[in-house]
Amino acid sequence: MSSSINFKAVSISNDRVMIAPSILAADLANLCSVASKTEEAGADMIHLDVIDGHFAPNITFGPDTIKALRRCTSLPFDTHLMISEPLKYLERFIKAGCDIITVHAEVCNESIFKEICAILKSNQVGIGIAINPDTELPSWAIDSMHEIDLVNVMSVYPGFSGQRLIPSVLEKMSMIGIMLREKGFSATIEADGGVDINNVYDVASAGARIIVAGNGVYSNSDIASAIKGIRERAMLAVSVGGNDGRRGSG
Ligand code: DX5
Ligand code: ZN
Repeated sequence: MSSSINFKAVSISNDRVMIAPSILAADLANLCSVASKTEEAGADMIHLDVIDGHFAPNITFGPDTIKALRRCTSLPFDTHLMISEPLKYLERFIKAGCDIITVHAEVCNESIFKEICAILKSNQVGIGIAINPDTELPSWAIDSMHEIDLVNVMSVYPGFSGQRLIPSVLEKMSMIGIMLREKGFSATIEADGGVDINNVYDVASAGARIIVAGNGVYSNSDIASAIKGIRERAMLAVSVGGNDGRRGSG
């Protein structure tokens, strides 16, 4: 059982945005200090990109690193599992102190995902589903959407930070936002990959309310002002009615 912050207690509203810096883009030799500085800089969560070298062509870190990082910050851990067998390792990530765990639709089916949902729910860990740029949300994920807290619409191919956002993903994001509203689901859209101050207005207009930014935050010497700038641009889109599909639902 995780003793970490309960995701359900993290106030997610479609009238605001949450900034989740991806520490994959930070100084990997100093992750503990990166985590605490990210908290001081005003981030809402820390995005943890776990890659197994099989699902995507990179190898990052695993539950032991996350467990160690749990001592460095009280920010919620938004863990993105880019691994081929999420069910096999789920308990270890829960025990490490993850607050939200996102698994990829490409490696699940209805029964695996239901099992994942049940385990996460019983541990009060938030449930996320992620889709690659070429993947549509499967019907079984829509059928389970009442269980899902977060839909990660990847805006780059998984593997590396510092890639360019794929603009065509924004249309898919908007459509998912409209579907969520029409069906009355409260899941929040997370945009992940290549998001920075220059495109975050469009990303939030497409309905994203959790903004993952790796390079967009950590390539700046002043990460507090980077986070502030991204938040302000995103909130501008929200205030002018960015994807009004997501307004009025919370
Ligand atoms: C890609 C990861 C992303 C990425 C974000 O595999 O899921 O979270 O690291 O980094 P930027 O914002 O630099 O694309
Ligand atoms: Zn990610």
